[in-house]
Amino acid sequence: MSGFSPEWLAQREPLDAAARDAGLAHEFAAAIARTPRRIIDLGAGTGANLRLLAPLIAGDQDWLLIDKDPALLVAQRREIARWAAQHEWGFSEDATGAVEISVGAARWRVRSQELDLHASLEQLRLQDCDGVTTTAFLDLVSVEWIDRLCHMLSRSPRPLLATLSVDGQRRWQPAMADDLRLLQAFEQHQAGDKGFGIALGIAAVDEMALRLARNGFSVGTARSDWLIADEHRALLGQMIDEALAIGCELEPGAASEFAQWAAHRHAQVAAGTLALTIGHRDLLALPRPIVYPDSFTLPAAR
Ligand SMILES: C[S@@+](CC[C@H](N)C(=O)[O-])C[C@H]1O[C@@H](n2cnc3c(N)ncnc32)[C@H](O)[C@@H]1O
Repeated sequence: MSGFSPEWLAQREPLDAAARDAGLAHEFAAAIARTPRRIIDLGAGTGANLRLLAPLIAGDQDWLLIDKDPALLVAQRREIARWAAQHEWGFSEDATGAVEISVGAARWRVRSQELDLHASLEQLRLQDCDGVTTTAFLDLVSVEWIDRLCHMLSRSPRPLLATLSVDGQRRWQPAMADDLRLLQAFEQHQAGDKGFGIALGIAAVDEMALRLARNGFSVGTARSDWLIADEHRALLGQMIDEALAIGCELEPGAASEFAQWAAHRHAQVAAGTLALTIGHRDLLALPRPIVYPDSFTLPAAR
């Protein structure tokens, strides 16, 4: 188990879909010219990235969805089948468990692999893919892990689209006095170990961008904030309870103040007057073509 339930991932999928930067996604799609487009998705969960990106990427595709959580991989198969049925696309599964979805003339092949990306990142064969994607994953990893991934990308330069990494913004509207203390507790919590060493949390996008730029990639970022308002009352309630639990864990002396804060916030949800913005960023990194000076000539082959 990874601690991410299929229910939570289903809840976040429409918010992610609304928040993602369409421009970076289209640039990623355009950067992969070869067909079929072979894409590796890291920390794929139930396959949300596939469902959002495959329709934007034209033509045949071959996806490899990696996750360490076997329960999520089971849910992944179910969610992908449900998605294909919803759209009335052709769906078949072969003896190896690989799925093929037929969308008009295009074929989208989807394979899943159970792999712990902390223990076994280097098992990935980036040289056999045309692009790498990941969503809501980069903020879980450590700086050492990012160094490992960047090293692999420098040896096999491929476009990378990393969406929905948290950036630390958490703005409750209307504001209340304890928001800041709870935000600080939340930031401390996010920097804990998420299975990769100390998590980069809100620093993830900048650390990744810096390293990829040094390794010869053109890097662009864009905001992809969640706006959680009245139409997501249940989720607002969960966010209040989560903030309260983390606040009480990290600052037990302030538990009764935080409980009052939470009661007030729940009343605002019931009255339909609460909104919460959670800051995220998307990152696109494209390998820069090597430009040789005019005078450069390749040495003759021997
Ligand atoms: C926040 S969820 C995002 C899932 C999916 N990308 C989405 O957007 O719905 C993070 C995912 O990373 C996976 N994960 C966490 N640690 C992992 C590891 N060491 N190796 C592989 N996957 C991991 C979890 O199982 C989970 O599916």
